[in-house]
Amino acid sequence: MHKILIGTNWKMYKSIAEAKEYTTALKAFFENFSTDIELFIIPSFTSLHPVQEIVKDSTILLGAQNMHWQDEGAYTGEISPVHLKEIGVQIIELGHSERREYFNETDEILYKKVKAALKHGLKPLICIGETREEKELFLTKEVLATQLKTIFQKIEVHDAQQLWIAYEPRWAIGEGGKVAEPKYIEEVHECLRDLLIEILGEVGKTVPILFGGSVNSKNAIPYLKCKHVSGLFIGRAAWDLDSFKDILLQVKKFVEHRKKVRSCS
Ligand code: 13P
Repeated sequence: MHKILIGTNWKMYKSIAEAKEYTTALKAFFENFSTDIELFIIPSFTSLHPVQEIVKDSTILLGAQNMHWQDEGAYTGEISPVHLKEIGVQIIELGHSERREYFNETDEILYKKVKAALKHGLKPLICIGETREEKELFLTKEVLATQLKTIFQKIEVHDAQQLWIAYEPRWAIGEGGKVAEPKYIEEVHECLRDLLIEILGEVGKTVPILFGGSVNSKNAIPYLKCKHVSGLFIGRAAWDLDSFKDILLQVKKFVEHRKKVRSCS
């Protein structure tokens, strides 16, 4: 049984001072909180090192929002996996819809980045999801299958155990995003599980699939109750620490209840 994965992507928000204040308070709150929750935060690049200094002696995992696939070279403005590893980054978020939309990130590029992340022992958190138009044309399954098959083209099965997938329908993300029905999320996660098994075999049964897109304190538990939802990837509702704490407390209660039910059955 996997831990429940709960994380936040800060996008291009929070100064270093804000990042440090937030992380210090989150660390204190999460100490001895629950061993069944894997918590991760993904700050912007300039805050990575100061945040790492705070979380290094805690169970909170640290992620970066992007990286290049080469170790080094004449790639002005890019970030090397080696440099991220050097400052203690553990997770690499890849293929976020905003990177696909504004920075032409393709599944072919993601494939190279996933390979590079695995080579350096960084955990790829791969974001996939359909656009509103694709959903309306009932193309969700085809789009997700193409994304996964392209990104996973030559990933070794033992490497696949390191992957986390985040299903983030593009129409559900950010301001103006539509809140997805849990029933729809359950259906898509079921389909993703089948696809992962088709592509990766046995390992596909255990790759965690997180859900992200307008998750908040009202819908977090209904999403977590869906079959094959292994965790939540949260933007806006986690940037305010009180709101994130509220979600974490609910998740803790949910986990404890689930454990009790399992031990009785
Ligand atoms: P929101 O939760 O703000 O919709 O953003 C989700 C997200 O982009 C996580 O990567």
